[in-house]
Amino acid sequence: SDRAYVIDEMISAKAIAARIEELCRKITDEFGDTDKLVVVGLLRGSFVFIADLVRELDLPIEVDFLEASSYGDSMESSREVRILKDLRGAIEGRDVLVVEDIVDTGHTLNHVTNLLVSRKPKRLKSIALLDKPSRREVDFRSDWIGFEIPDEFVVGYGIDYAQRNRNLPFIGKVRFTEA
Ligand code: PRP
Ligand code: MN
Ligand code: MG
Repeated sequence: SDRAYVIDEMISAKAIAARIEELCRKITDEFGDTDKLVVVGLLRGSFVFIADLVRELDLPIEVDFLEASSYGDSMESSREVRILKDLRGAIEGRDVLVVEDIVDTGHTLNHVTNLLVSRKPKRLKSIALLDKPSRREVDFRSDWIGFEIPDEFVVGYGIDYAQRNRNLPFIGKVRFTEA
């Protein structure tokens, strides 16, 4: 899109880092006894969150990625989740943590969770940095959530607007400046 906009800071890099420390304590309570935790990032949005999360986790882990896209460059969910890139490794009998940047309508993480559960992991949990419960279209809740946010158009810390602004170190709110 070529509509003009500015980005207002909504969640600072410092607040995100502090929340990640808390979340890692919860993850360690759950998976502290694991022989190996497979941490699965959903491309592309989770790449910043997963990088910070795994560096704060003192557990034996493996990192894998899966790409499931529903939005593409559009602002509206297609509601039809497509697997564009599957995991490299098998997860049967493994401990798995699925890492997502944001749960909006819920279609993406709901679909991916169902798919991965069908592969019979030993334990599977999901974590999302952001949650917009007011937008939910399917009955899904992530096991751990960083921040619950209102229905604002957010970018940064991995999250894009038409593929831009993923590299902002904080979560910002898009504010359009002209009609
Ligand atoms: C975005 C976001 C989540 C998903 C959330 O991904 O990163 O994965 O949408 O929306 P939902 O709950 O309504 O399904 P997108 O499809 O834009 O791909 P991207 O991660 O590559 O930006
Ligand atoms: Mn995504
Ligand atoms: Mg996107």
